[in-house]
Amino acid sequence: MSERTDVLHSWCVQAEWDAPTIVSGEGAFFTDENGHRYLDMSSLAECMNLGHQHPAIIQAIQAQAAQLCFVTNSWGAIPRAALARRLLEKSGFEGGRVYFTLGGADANEHAVKFARLACGQSAAKVITRERSYHGASYAAMALSGDARTEGQVDPAAFGVLRVPAPYLYRCAFGSTDAITCATRHVAHLAEVIDRTPPPGVAAVLMEVDAGTNGIVAPRAYWPMLREATARRRVLLIADEVMSGFGRCGEWFAWQRDGEAGRPDLMTLAKGLTGAHLPLGAVVLSQAVAATVEHQQLFTGLTYAGHPLSCAAGLAAVQAYADEALIERSRHLGAELYRALQALKNRHAVIGDVRGGDGLFAVIELVADRASKTPLAPWPQTPPLLRELVMRAKDVGVSFATRGHLIIIAPPLVIAEHDLSAAVALLDRLLSELTHA
Ligand SMILES: Cc1ncc(COP(=O)(O)O)c(C=O)c1O
Repeated sequence: MSERTDVLHSWCVQAEWDAPTIVSGEGAFFTDENGHRYLDMSSLAECMNLGHQHPAIIQAIQAQAAQLCFVTNSWGAIPRAALARRLLEKSGFEGGRVYFTLGGADANEHAVKFARLACGQSAAKVITRERSYHGASYAAMALSGDARTEGQVDPAAFGVLRVPAPYLYRCAFGSTDAITCATRHVAHLAEVIDRTPPPGVAAVLMEVDAGTNGIVAPRAYWPMLREATARRRVLLIADEVMSGFGRCGEWFAWQRDGEAGRPDLMTLAKGLTGAHLPLGAVVLSQAVAATVEHQQLFTGLTYAGHPLSCAAGLAAVQAYADEALIERSRHLGAELYRALQALKNRHAVIGDVRGGDGLFAVIELVADRASKTPLAPWPQTPPLLRELVMRAKDVGVSFATRGHLIIIAPPLVIAEHDLSAAVALLDRLLSELTHA
């Protein structure tokens, strides 16, 4: 038996894949087959928000498995109905509906289907942004502005229009302050909506905050986007696959702006079960749900709303609340952001630090602060960062990178001293690697 030779792995060169086998986990740590223990600074794929092997979730899965493993969508299932109710309550989408999927990509694809159904125009466009990630199935790749996959799919064939990402550090419109950057990006997007010929634009799909591509939009961007889309009767879909469930210090990142941030649809996955089982969801507002209420839905996935996954989701939602993890993420995220800013003051290789609203932060490494030249052309990973990740692993800390970015997103249960130790390790490794 060899994982190395028998399994085709995602997002890598097969011949270079050489990772240890993980055999157990607990809280913010996991352990490999040789007994090496690692502090998980990325929640594996920014999904294990509740930590590894959360006992209440395991217990809920076991109890559901003992009672009933599977029910199709043509019959009711107790955990499916219960989880839908909790999601509608937590998001305040009273009167709306929840469509369950298997993960984030299919949640985004379905959100777009529902938006087009709601506006009655199957050929209407969808606007997404450059430097975004919405999944790796074909339509989700077309929705994503991801340099790694852009050659595989034609966005135009999926009716997708792209706008620049609100990336303040490298603003496409040349602005250096957050409000101007947000204003210009929203004005540009509004222009794209206004000049799109009939049947026009059905929806705008965006990550609200945390995302794989490491962009954190200026805070003013989301409410401005909401206002501009609402004025044009274009539906706003919030991709909360990564930013939801406490990652940005709220249940859902759009809630930072209260009602001024409320989207028409939102998509969920990852933290929904804390990755204990696969599950995604599209939450539809009452108004959108009403438009599809009497239409035949020609879509479905065999395992959508699987009772075991929904039981895990239900236990996960309870655990976030019982352990006050949303508030904890907000509090620790602010501390993390302060510590990373201090790190930036000590290391010229750090060009920018983003985040701060929860346990999500991005460190952008540059060759030169004045010119902001990335340490390697996007999306390549610079050798310094590869070395940093290797040395960190050797001392039992697992960091995630994307291109020249370090993405920090530990489980929300991480102990404060472990978080501080990880930042101290980054400090030491950056010193070693840049002063060598
Ligand atoms: C913002 C966002 N949307 C969608 C996805 C796709 O989710 P999945 O891998 O479950 O299909 C991801 C995954 O990283 C994501 O970060």
